[in-house]
Amino acid sequence: MEGRPAALAYSVAQAMAKTDSEIGVRGGLPMPRRKQTSRREQTPRREQTAGPFETEALGAELASRLEPGDVVLVRGELGAGKTTFVRGACRALGVTAIVTSPTFSIGQRYPAPVPVSHIDLFRVTDLDGEDPDLLADYLDSDSIAFVEWPPVAEDPVARLARIAARVRIDHAGGDRRIVEIA
Ligand SMILES: Nc1ncnc2c1ncn2[C@@H]1O[C@H](COP(=O)(O)OP(=O)(O)OP(=O)(O)O)[C@@H](O)[C@H]1O
Ligand SMILES: [Mg+2]
Repeated sequence: MEGRPAALAYSVAQAMAKTDSEIGVRGGLPMPRRKQTSRREQTPRREQTAGPFETEALGAELASRLEPGDVVLVRGELGAGKTTFVRGACRALGVTAIVTSPTFSIGQRYPAPVPVSHIDLFRVTDLDGEDPDLLADYLDSDSIAFVEWPPVAEDPVARLARIAARVRIDHAGGDRRIVEIA
């Protein structure tokens, strides 16, 4: 948070915390207070977000618990906010490139302290008919990966990598979204 105006830091903390009482103070700036859980522990949770910034903040929070080799599956209807969630996670992992939906291939790899892959499988209608190396190009033990996926894609991903979390995002009217992380 160094270098950030206190007001912005506070709004980030607010977006990432469920209530004001969860906001702690570190180095003079308010920060979301972490629950005392182990790094690998993933407590299922369901949140409502009121705009893209809050969905990004949930992605950032999940990112802080990920390790190299982890894959996060993100599902949801068209325009639900899957890429928005991944964008927040990528930022938190140190990706400086603009994070958008992969356009000309199924995925993108972003340089970062731990490299990050972002795969969008919604355009792939039949994974079984694809080159087996298609996913392997993006999933490895040195990277963290996010996969926007239709349910049928889970098995091929699970064969190649450790699924650390499953995220489901649903429209809830206007800019509201329900984000489930399990
Ligand atoms: N609460 C919210 N969370 C996430 N996105 C939101 C929210 N409210 C509005 N939006 C808007 O909804 C859109 C979500 O687009 P995004 O590309 O993230 O969705 P997607 O699920 O990845 O879509 P696609 O199915 O095309 O891959 C963005 O324009 C974003 O600004
Ligand atoms: Mg998308």
